[in-house]
Amino acid sequence: MSGSTPMRSGKERAAELSEAEIAVHWREEGYFQPSSRFIGQANLSDPSVRERFSEAHFPECFREYADLLTWDHYWQTTLDSSKPPFYNWFVGGRLNVCYNCVDRHLPKHKNKAALIFVGEPEEDAPQSITYQELYVRVNEVAALLQEFAGLKTGDRVTIHMPMVPELPITMLACARLGVVHSVVFGGFSGESCGRRIADSGSQVLITTDGYYRSGKLLDHKANADLAVKTAAEEGQKVEKVLIWRRFPNGRSATSTPMVEGRDYVINDLLTKYRGRRVAPVSQPAEAPLFLMYTSGTTGRPKGCQHSSGGYLAYVAGTSKFVQDIHPEDVYWCLADIGWITGHSYIVYGPLALGATSVIYEGVPTFPDPGRPWRIAERLDVNIFHTSPTSIRMLRKVGPEEPAKYHYHFKHMTTVGEPIEPEAWKWYYHSVGKDEAVIVDTWWQTETGGFLCSTLPALDRMKPGSAGPGVPGIYPVILDENGQEVPPGSNKAGNICIRNPWPGLMQTIWRDPDRFVKQYFSRYNKDPKSKDWHDWPYFAGDGALLAPDGYYRILGRIDDVINVAGHRLGTKEIESACLTVPEVAEAAVVPVVDELRGRLPEVYVSLKPGVTASPSAIQEKVVHAIEVEIGKIARPRSVQIVSDMPKTRSGKIMRRVLAAISNTMDVGDVTTLANPDVVEQIRTAVQGKEKKAARSGPEDIKAFGQEH
Ligand code: WTA
Repeated sequence: MSGSTPMRSGKERAAELSEAEIAVHWREEGYFQPSSRFIGQANLSDPSVRERFSEAHFPECFREYADLLTWDHYWQTTLDSSKPPFYNWFVGGRLNVCYNCVDRHLPKHKNKAALIFVGEPEEDAPQSITYQELYVRVNEVAALLQEFAGLKTGDRVTIHMPMVPELPITMLACARLGVVHSVVFGGFSGESCGRRIADSGSQVLITTDGYYRSGKLLDHKANADLAVKTAAEEGQKVEKVLIWRRFPNGRSATSTPMVEGRDYVINDLLTKYRGRRVAPVSQPAEAPLFLMYTSGTTGRPKGCQHSSGGYLAYVAGTSKFVQDIHPEDVYWCLADIGWITGHSYIVYGPLALGATSVIYEGVPTFPDPGRPWRIAERLDVNIFHTSPTSIRMLRKVGPEEPAKYHYHFKHMTTVGEPIEPEAWKWYYHSVGKDEAVIVDTWWQTETGGFLCSTLPALDRMKPGSAGPGVPGIYPVILDENGQEVPPGSNKAGNICIRNPWPGLMQTIWRDPDRFVKQYFSRYNKDPKSKDWHDWPYFAGDGALLAPDGYYRILGRIDDVINVAGHRLGTKEIESACLTVPEVAEAAVVPVVDELRGRLPEVYVSLKPGVTASPSAIQEKVVHAIEVEIGKIARPRSVQIVSDMPKTRSGKIMRRVLAAISNTMDVGDVTTLANPDVVEQIRTAVQGKEKKAARSGPEDIKAFGQEH
């Protein structure tokens, strides 16, 4: 890889990359077996599932998932694939997602907790919301959205809320009416939210006055004002802002003034809707349920559009068989509902199965690293789900903590980033107390639900490997020329899914061309083909396939950085830097971080004649990133350079900067327009003394290549 020369095409260089000796920072690990106790109670312990979901039975195998739902009108055609890569599942079927997650559980489970809310202040007792109570609240909110906010089936509404029970209540109320929700992660800035409001065409914004994070009460209402302003600048007027209160009894958590005629407190309005019921709107299976914006290779986030029937069937099926959720379980996923993991595996999957899902407001290490284990003990949580970053952090600050508490997990999930075997083993031995099975689930916002994972009662676990494709998913690793990379070849390539599945997003909101281009054009040889076999789904991750059929995910091969399991686009961060008037050019690259996986590092060059001090510029750049995107995108550092390394055609060589930031070999730079600048930047970042170059991880090596 390092010997590549800029004379060659991007394709050739990338091909060399997949043939490169793999910097396998982790060696092949031994297996761990699920316990017989786990197997004895598992939802899925019949090995015939592999046969039932084999290609010979595709697509009819997904009938099993659809049959977990209650349909108003049963569907006729399992899959309509006549217009690939646009697919319709369970065609002719009608259902309501809210009905499936709430109403249908009432006869058996009305008195059981659907949600348990744990606020961050530890002195506040957890609040249980039974299915009956959820039903009542969702109906009242649905009535309000319909009558007061004037929302109709098919309208979009943006929800910018933290981890409070009113968030799933609002989502379910939307689903009841067939209103398409677009939830924006609470940690994103008002500006970010505003851009998503504009793209989705939402006239209503639903938010919260404030919430707790690391012991502080944050004023969230202030973000709403910025969001409305940004949306207006982009041509979208927000008619109403509906605000939930964090505290009962009328206490406000914000000091930001209300805007007369635009802002309304939901809790106050709700008194008018007490006891109201709204009939669930029967929706076609393919009606959109929600949009979830995610970062890609361009500056603008894209709205992944998910369906009602296919999506719900897929998350219900995978929650049942991969998460092993039974109605009597207490399930706790620490992800944020503002990301896809929270949508699929805090709200829709668990509730479709009638489970109890825990919602925790705060950070796991507040007020100390024993907090998650106290919550688990108190609520008797038995299924636990989190990210490698949380695992690494909890391990760093309190490796002995889990042993102090008497909880028992039967099952644990890791998601969002590759997990190193060391962290996996701590999770297994210390958090899981050698009792719990672990599933390492690989998937994406676009995919609705899991793609690769072991089946918890059927497969052995292997630290650092996600596992084979889950039932009905047929992955493949393709090289640069579209050739299959065979198992055990020890070559990295691009992981793709050969077939459609019910959880796959339907399209990018208002941009079907980009949907085709981004995910399917890469390996499609005949754009006119009407056969789904010709349209492999290109995930954008590098991966390796071991002889046992287990996939190891190496990370993104595009301009996306995975910071603590959160997906951030480098182009979005670069646009934020360019809002600083002194900045002429900006380039953002990923750097390896021990705890959070990757962090962004920013390089900027300045316009001529700038007199401000370097530290003032650095501060401005960091501030701009926080304002435009949010604190999660804070860079490790901001490097001010005299010039960017560039090709003769003027393209910034981000891969050279990424190599410098990660102390890797910069490769041959002699053909750059300005080769001297490379050494200048290297000494500025790494110091005068030349450090030995490391062979870095695959995603960093791939960064800045053309694909
Ligand atoms: C990464 C989160 C390794 C991957 C569900 C993917 C993972 C991106 C894993 C999607 C895993 C997710 N092992 N890497 N188990 N799970 N990823 O859209 O790079 O926020 O493309 O969805 O996270 O992030 P997203």
